[in-house]
Amino acid sequence: MYPLNRNRRLRSSHAIRALVRETQLSKNDFIVPLFIVEGKNIKKEIISMPDYFQLSINNAEKEVKELWDIGIKAILLFVKIEDNLKDNKGSEAINNNGLMQRAIKSIKNKVPEMLVITDVALDPYSCFGHDGIVENFEVLNDPTLEVLSKMSVSHANSGADFVAPSDMMDGRVLRIRQALEKEGFFNTGIMSYGVKYASSLYGPFRNALDSNPGFGDKKTYQMDYSNSKQALNEVNKDIEEGADIIMVKPGMPYIDILNSLYKKIDVPLAVYQVSGEYSMLKSAASKGFLDYDKVVLEQLFSFKRAGAAMIATYHAKEAVKLLNQIL
Ligand code: PBG
Repeated sequence: MYPLNRNRRLRSSHAIRALVRETQLSKNDFIVPLFIVEGKNIKKEIISMPDYFQLSINNAEKEVKELWDIGIKAILLFVKIEDNLKDNKGSEAINNNGLMQRAIKSIKNKVPEMLVITDVALDPYSCFGHDGIVENFEVLNDPTLEVLSKMSVSHANSGADFVAPSDMMDGRVLRIRQALEKEGFFNTGIMSYGVKYASSLYGPFRNALDSNPGFGDKKTYQMDYSNSKQALNEVNKDIEEGADIIMVKPGMPYIDILNSLYKKIDVPLAVYQVSGEYSMLKSAASKGFLDYDKVVLEQLFSFKRAGAAMIATYHAKEAVKLLNQIL
């Protein structure tokens, strides 16, 4: 009771604030998404994501070495596929000599200890820009599973440490786990995008990979943002099916979901602060409307406070620098 209790005592100096701090943020928490393109010596800024680049494999190798040297230990790979290689079967997705497979091999060769996580979904490979095989304007569930499991095995075979299915088809974690086990990839992990909402915040990413859906939207597979109870159901199924890590996506608008899962499940949670979140901060900063560095740290700390064990974020490299300054 006031004045016996004065809450401000625990906030009265830098030292006491540091002592009572519940959450820490460090370079160990970050997963860096990278966009790989065909070609050599390419480093092309993504128009919708200022200061973020598409990289050819040789430049990705350099970038990954740099990331490792500043203490980042995990990357998440995406590829931009040439139009003439896109079809409705995911043929290029399972090509053992495809762009993703070559990227994994080169990166692993250069920086073997970097944890390489790969995106598993058909949208960059699909002539319809959808995450699965399409028939009569419908995204088919079960036929897609077959391709996703082959794709995962192909990634594992190239050296991926974790595969990250981001497609939201039902039953894919089980099919992928079974396929990996069958081929002897017992140690290849699955980071499941268990909770992925149909979000307009993916817009800048789709520009980066030229993966906009050609018709309709993704609402028949990604979740409806008015729902939260479905999240636990989705996650429980994925854990039963063998997911090692569960991802919540997007980040900030879904921090309630992250926190409620944190209280209910025991597997580590990842959060994905997506492209639209990044672009919003970059554009506000470019107009001088907010202090970019401070807002970045505030958001990343908030993810940790809400329960994320790890954060996939386009701010990772900048955040490492900022953290080095404040520690
Ligand atoms: C593909 C995929 C998407 C993102 C990650 N994996 C786009 C989508 O589902 O349309 C979005 C990431 C971002 O916006 O940063 N399945």
